[in-house]
Amino acid sequence: MERLKQQIREHGKILSDKVLKLDALLNHQVEPSLIMEMGQEFARRFQGDNITKVITVESSGIPVAFATACHLGVPMVFAKRKKTLTTDEDCYMERVPSFTKGIVTDIMVSKSFLSPQDRLLFIDDIIANGDAARGLIRIIERAESQLAGMGIVVEKSFQKGAQTIREQGIRLESLVNITGLTDGIIHFDS
Ligand code: G4P
Ligand code: NA
Ligand code: NA
Repeated sequence: MERLKQQIREHGKILSDKVLKLDALLNHQVEPSLIMEMGQEFARRFQGDNITKVITVESSGIPVAFATACHLGVPMVFAKRKKTLTTDEDCYMERVPSFTKGIVTDIMVSKSFLSPQDRLLFIDDIIANGDAARGLIRIIERAESQLAGMGIVVEKSFQKGAQTIREQGIRLESLVNITGLTDGIIHFDS
């Protein structure tokens, strides 16, 4: 997606060798027409996969997951983040560390929204180490839902999250691949 790459070049702020601030287009402000384009592209890539639901984790995955679900004509579910661990019989809960925030949070999905009949497309904004993603994958496994694949807007391939997930045999599609953030330059794979 050339338009997305151009927006990242224009608005992305390199905070360190590992972190790229994308508040202007993904994590604080969003441009609806660009988000809808991302959703259309994910929908195109997973068109023949009998997706029954799109799933993500709040908060930054929600706009793109919504756009994808909109294009596929299926519901969208977002895992909620909880600050305190409350055991709830009706929920799947997993503890995940956060790369950028340096904290641990619990994510949860109500059992009523996931079933073994579901074939899920997991959408997220950025993948770094993949801890949050693995937490949601564990929830999907516990629900015995099928995971058709993952759609990630920005893959940072110099961190190990996406690779580890692909090694598990999960199909992971990204819209842009950032190979490094060295010398104040955003390096793309192509
Ligand atoms: P993940 O890859 O499965 O998301 O887990 P990881 O532990 O690697 O990253 C945790 C959080 O850090 C995620 O947001 C992820 O999007 C964010 N993140 C990782 N690298 C970067 C980066 O270079 N830039 C930005 N802007 N974010 C990054 P989150 O905690 O799920 O929060 P939210 O944004 O969804 O609220
Ligand atoms: Na996210
Ligand atoms: Na994020």
